[in-house]
Order: sequence, then structure tokens, then C-alpha cells
Amino acid sequence: MPENRQFSRPTRYQNAAINYYLGLTDSPFLHYGYWEPLPQSPEDLTIERLRKAQADYAAKLLALIPAETKTILDVGCGIGGNAAYLLDKGFQVEGLAPDAFQGERFRETTRGRAPFHLTGFETFASAHTYDLILLSESSQYIAAPDIAQGAARLLAPGGYLLLADMMRRDADYTEGIFSNCRLATELATALAGAGFNRLEQEDISAQIAPTLDLCVVNFRRFGLSTLRYGGELLAIAAPPLHWLLRKLYDRYLGALVQEGLGAREIFERHLCYEIQLWQWEPEN
Ligand SMILES: C[S@@+](CC[C@H](N)C(=O)[O-])C[C@H]1O[C@@H](n2cnc3c(N)ncnc32)[C@H](O)[C@@H]1O
Repeated sequence: MPENRQFSRPTRYQNAAINYYLGLTDSPFLHYGYWEPLPQSPEDLTIERLRKAQADYAAKLLALIPAETKTILDVGCGIGGNAAYLLDKGFQVEGLAPDAFQGERFRETTRGRAPFHLTGFETFASAHTYDLILLSESSQYIAAPDIAQGAARLLAPGGYLLLADMMRRDADYTEGIFSNCRLATELATALAGAGFNRLEQEDISAQIAPTLDLCVVNFRRFGLSTLRYGGELLAIAAPPLHWLLRKLYDRYLGALVQEGLGAREIFERHLCYEIQLWQWEPEN
């Protein structure tokens, strides 16, 4: 696997989590998807349905791309699912992410049709501008001023920023699994301050939430039962080690597991998921 040591510890943690998710879904997308129609029962919460929801999400993004768009910079492109979809629709696409493993997978998914830049958005520079910058679930990793200034730096006047992500509605929610998400008001202020006008805004919280349910159901069914089984085996084979690990679990992991099981409630209480289209119209 390629080296990622040049990146910060938080970025490496994020990359590890993304790679874990990738192993579970085996999908070219790393986003929550767009579940429409909504699942009617827990039996509808399947990986197959998730894959369909993810393809529908790509189509949802496409529907918002203005007709005159030709070139797209896919910021936080993951392993290239969105990029491949957009290439197939005739756009010129470049991808960017601070993860060499994703870069390899991006080249495979896009079959070498799009350049990949191994870097964070904050430090990315280009000799040319783009018609549209796409942030599909990557805004949560980048500070609001960096999103606004970076997009203004890389767009020609009149260019577009298409952003889809979980956002915090509640400024007091600052600790916990989703606390890295941008504060919606702060993001809007940063973009408006850099000369962006919002053209479209759609709340799709209801249509992404089934993915949270799917994760919780699978974690309960497979994750927790595997953990319990491993614990029972260890208690028989090596009681002192079991005792030690149990202590470590209680001290460091138990609260995180409980929080993960309540992900949907936390999301509904403090966050939303929006797709937003902005246009950069700097004053002359
Ligand atoms: C949840 S994934 C979304 C991937 C893809 N856009 C999709 O919709 O399938 C988040 C992406 O943001 C990238 N990312 C994290 N920090 C970043 C940064 N500072 N600049 C650009 N991308 C970043 C990750 O490496 C990953 O590719």
C-alpha cells in the first residue's frame, strides 16, 4: 500500500475509517447515497439498496450541474465513483484527495481518463481554472474559509461550487462522531464573504438517513456479536488477557460504541444534510 505518512494524524485516521467503509460496501462511492423511495421496513436496508442509492445520489448531483459546465474539479474524490459517472456524461474531470490508496483506486475506477492530484484542497494550486468545483461529502474535512478561498482561487468568475454534505445546524454540538461537520451558517457566511451567491439549496436529510440505519443494524448484527464471541473465546482461552481487554474496552471503547448505535438520533437532533449550488460572482 502506498505511503501516506506525509499527512497529518487526523487525515490518516479519516483515511483509515474510509478504507474500512470501503471494505464493507465494495462500492466505487464513499457517500451516503440518496434513498428514494425511502425504505419501508428493516428488510429494505441492504448493501444492494445502498449501492442503488449511491448511484441515484450521483444522478442527483448531475441534475444540479449547470448546462454550460465542461470542466470539473472533484475535491475529495474518494475512489472515483462520482468522477467515472461524470466522465461517462461527457465532462472533463480531475480528482483530488490526500490519500495515495484512493489515488490508485481512482485511476482504476476512472480507467485513467482523469488526472488525480495527491493533495489536500487547502494547498492545491492549478495553472488553469475550472467551470465547477464539486465537494461531495468532503466539506466536512476542510475548514469553511479554506473551502471559500480555495474555490474562489480555482474558479473563473461565473464558475460554480456544488457542495453536498452533512452539516451542523446546532453550534453547540462540538463533540462527538459528527462534530467535524461544517456549521451550516459558518459555511454560508464564508462563501458569501468570498463572493459566492447561493442558487440552489435542498435538504436531503430524510434520503440519506437510511444509510445510518443500515450501518447501525449491521454493526449490531455482525460487529457487536463478533466482539462478544471474541470476548467469550478469550475468557476461556486467556482469562487474564480477557480481563485486561475488558477494562480497556470499558475505559476507551464502550462510550464510542454506544454513541455509534445512537447515530441516527444524534444526526436528527444536531445536523442536516444539504446539497447546495453556489456561483462565484466577485465584484469587479
Ligand atoms: C467521505 S469521502 C467522499 C468521497 C467522494 N467524494 C464520494 O462522494 O464518494 C471524503 C473524501 O474527502 C477527502 N479529504 C479529506 N480531507 C481532505 C482535504 N483536506 N482536501 C481534500 N479532500 C479531503 C478524503 O480523502 C475522501 O476522498
